[in-house]
Amino acid sequence: MEMASLLRLVALSLLLAVATPVRDITDACSSQVKAADFPHLNGSGLHLTLHHPRSPCSPAPLPADLPFSAVLTHDDARIASLAARLAKTPSSRPTALDESSSLALDESSSPALDESLASVPLGPGTSVGVGNYVTRMGLGTPAKSYVRQAGPVFNPKASSSYASVSCSAPQCSDLTSATLNPAACSRSNVCVYQASYGDSSFSVGYLSKDTVTLGSGSMPNFYYGCGQDNEGLFGRSAGLIGLARNKLSLLYQLAPSLGYSFSYCLPTSSSSSGYLSIGSYNPGQYAYTPMASSSLDDSLYFIKMTGITVAGRPLSVSKSAYSSLPTIIDSGTVITRLPTGVYSALSKAVAAAMKGTPSAPAFSILDTCFQGQASQVRAPAVSMAFAGGAVLKLAARNLLVDVDSATTCLAFAPARSAAIIGNTQQQTFSVVYDVKSNKIGFAAGGCS
Ligand SMILES: *[C@@H]1O[C@H](CO)[C@@H](O)[C@H](O)[C@H]1NC(C)=O
Repeated sequence: MEMASLLRLVALSLLLAVATPVRDITDACSSQVKAADFPHLNGSGLHLTLHHPRSPCSPAPLPADLPFSAVLTHDDARIASLAARLAKTPSSRPTALDESSSLALDESSSPALDESLASVPLGPGTSVGVGNYVTRMGLGTPAKSYVRQAGPVFNPKASSSYASVSCSAPQCSDLTSATLNPAACSRSNVCVYQASYGDSSFSVGYLSKDTVTLGSGSMPNFYYGCGQDNEGLFGRSAGLIGLARNKLSLLYQLAPSLGYSFSYCLPTSSSSSGYLSIGSYNPGQYAYTPMASSSLDDSLYFIKMTGITVAGRPLSVSKSAYSSLPTIIDSGTVITRLPTGVYSALSKAVAAAMKGTPSAPAFSILDTCFQGQASQVRAPAVSMAFAGGAVLKLAARNLLVDVDSATTCLAFAPARSAAIIGNTQQQTFSVVYDVKSNKIGFAAGGCS
C-alpha cells in the first residue's frame, strides 16, 4: 500500500512527501544537505527541508531527461483542475458503497483493491506531481522515513500505531471539503477517500491514522489517506502534504500545538534547498498583503494583485484589470497565470525591454521567448504589487524560465477563471501564511 496523505488539494501547497527507506543523496549534494534533510522540531515549530522537484539533491528527483514541455503540459492540467475545483461546490456526506456493486472495498483483504475501483466517478481535484516540492517525513511505529515510491511501500500491518478510521468519525465527513468528493464507506465500515486530479490522476484508499514523526517529536493519531489505488502522474513521491485551510491538512492537524501559520522558501532547481516551517515565524522581516476572502473556495489562499511594473513603469492596463479575476497563490503551479489583458501588456512590455535579445519561437503555453538562458540575458526589473503594499521584486530567474539549453521564455501565461501566483515567481522568497491573522507576507532572500 502506498501512503498518500490527503489533501492534495491545496492551493498552495502541496509538497510531496515521501516513500522509501531513505536513499543516499547524490554526491553532487553536500553532506550539509544530508544532515539537514530530516524534520526538526524546536521551540519555534516544525522545520522541513524542501527540494526542487528537478534538483539532483531531491531524494525523489524527476527524471533528468523529462522535457520541460511535459512540465508545462502538467501545469496546464493543474490549472484546469483548479478551475474545475473553483466551479464545484462540495457535495454531501459519506455515502455507503452498494454491497452488490463491484466497488465495495474490504480493508482486510490484500492490499490491491478491485480493479473496478478505477471506474469510481470522481470530481476534479488538483493535479499533482512535477510542479511540487519534495521533503521527507516519518510515518508509523517504528517510524519509516518516506520520500520516494521506489522501494517497499508503507505497510500498515507493520505499524503498531496504525488504525483505520470508521465511517461515523467526524474526520470522515471532513473529507468532503478536503477532496470535494463525498467519502464512501466500505463493507466493514471503514471510511474511503477519493481524490482526483485534473489530468486523470487519482487516488482512492482508506482514511487512516498513525503516528507521524517530526524530528525528535512525534504526533499520534495523525489523519491521512492510505492510498490503495493511485493512478497517473504521482511521480516518484510517496505522498502529499496538504497545507490548505481545511481540517485534514497537515497545517490544521499541527496548528493546535504549533500555531496557525506556516512559511516556506521554494528553492530553484540549482540552489541546494529551501524550507517549510509550521509554527511561529519572525514577523519583522516580511511585507504583508491581506488574505482575500472568496466565496469560491474557502480552503485555497486568495490575495489581491494591484499592479505590475516593468523597468519601473506600470503596465498600460487599468487598475481594475488586476482584479478582474480572483487571484490564488499556489506553490504547486509552475507558471503564473494573469488576467488576459494584464498578461498581454506584460508580454509586450518585457519584449520591448528585451528588444536587444533575439526572440525565439513560442514554446508550449509560453509565447514570449528569447534565445539564451535566464542567467545570461538582460532582463528588465519586474515587480508585482499586492494590496497592502507587499511587492515581489522579480529577479531574472523569477521572470524567465529556461525551456531548453538555448531558449528562455517569459514564465507567465494568460489565466482562465482564476489568476494564480505560481512557484517560479515565488522561488527564493520567504513566503509566510499567517492563517490566524489572515495575511500573507513576502521577504527576499529566503533560501540560504
Ligand atoms: C528552530 O529551528 C529553526 C530551523 O533550524 C531555526 O531557524 C530557529 O531559530 C530555531 N528556533 C528556536 C527557538 O530554537
